[in-house]
Amino acid sequence: MPERPPFAIRARLVTPASDGGARHELDGLLEVDAGGRIGAVRAFAELEGTPETPVVDLRPWVLLPGLVDLHAHLPQLPNAGLGAGLDLLTWLERYIFPLERGFDEATAERLAPAAFRALAAAGTTTAVLYGAVYEPSLDASFRAAEAHGIRAVIGKVMMDRVTYDDTLRPADILDLSLRQSADLCARWHGRDGGRLRYAFTPRFAVSCTADLLRESAALAGSTGAYWQTHLSEDLGELAEVARLFPESSDYLDVYDRAEGLGKRSILAHAIHLSDREILRMAESGSRVAHCPASNLFLASGAMRLARYLEAGVLVGLGSDVAAGPELSIFGAMRSGAYTQSALRVAGDSRPVLGPLDWLRMGTLEGARALGLEGVIGSLEAGKEADFIALDPSLTVPLPGVVAPADDPASSDAEALISRLIFRAHPAMVRGAWVRGRRLAGPV
Ligand code: GUN
Ligand code: ZN
Repeated sequence: MPERPPFAIRARLVTPASDGGARHELDGLLEVDAGGRIGAVRAFAELEGTPETPVVDLRPWVLLPGLVDLHAHLPQLPNAGLGAGLDLLTWLERYIFPLERGFDEATAERLAPAAFRALAAAGTTTAVLYGAVYEPSLDASFRAAEAHGIRAVIGKVMMDRVTYDDTLRPADILDLSLRQSADLCARWHGRDGGRLRYAFTPRFAVSCTADLLRESAALAGSTGAYWQTHLSEDLGELAEVARLFPESSDYLDVYDRAEGLGKRSILAHAIHLSDREILRMAESGSRVAHCPASNLFLASGAMRLARYLEAGVLVGLGSDVAAGPELSIFGAMRSGAYTQSALRVAGDSRPVLGPLDWLRMGTLEGARALGLEGVIGSLEAGKEADFIALDPSLTVPLPGVVAPADDPASSDAEALISRLIFRAHPAMVRGAWVRGRRLAGPV
């Protein structure tokens, strides 16, 4: 990593802690060293003498770890907000495949830089993304991520059964798709000291043959890259998978037979799983990208999240734009919380998550899902300095009216994070940093 002058930020700090719970400093200091790592996190009052590095005073803003979006679709951003309530397969055919068909290199060069700025403006410092099927558009997307500074995992979408690329003969797709994906992985996986990584990305079982699933999983295994796909999102999709893979006992078994499960596998949605499938997810160490805003938008279903957590499945959050209408992971937290509330109204007695639990899921759990919990996900010394600064005054119930001193959110971390989730304001993210380098995007 290039050396930059060290600096420190004085602000209020809230972060999940690696050994459980959360840390809250009302007046804290985050020190970033020349290598872009967090040197120390402390109460400002603990500082003895004059600090050795410049201190930027951002009070009364709040620093949080950068948000981790485990699942979004780069080419789909222009469609965000369209098609609510359609079933998944109709929505894909009507809105998404035509859009992705146009995501060529030139379109990616135009759109990807704006997408990375928008992600940073939403507070996301790590994004796990699907591209389209065209190799040059993936190179363009990686180049844009490299220049922007965001941390990103990206993959070329692989589809050899149902596809929108009518320039290819179906029989040619398997080999071409594997070769192009392997080449992209060779060029980009691990670039810039691991800031950019590759994910082999078979779209989902409906659009992939068993051969493509197996071969892509084998490539992920041999390269150490990730493997990402969709799982059990929509009931029409489930019926189609059962028809296409009659030898499999259930949806997860399709991926299991392809040897696609494991610690580097990120499965989006996974909301209609049986007890057997949940146990197998936990046993195999596979990760879930929970996308509750998307699940509500397309009326896909309500994930009974507590079952997964009780079984020990590792769950992080995804925006799933454009089935999710917004990039904000605060929005995903809010949708997730509403979903759990609705399940409780419907009779589910399992405990609901609190605001700090949602914050953890959108940061440290997302990092764990990527195997990066030693690198990012919390404000702790030794980690790389991926963090965001927020202006909480934009979330108070009466905009323009200063919150009273006894407002709970001014002293209590749980209340503050509750406001950030349930009254998230598009402009509240004022800065986003990766490895101590400020990203373009937040205003
Ligand atoms: N399943 C297969 N492709 C997609 C997609 O693009 N979005 C969502 N939400 N689900 C999918
Ligand atoms: Zn998706």
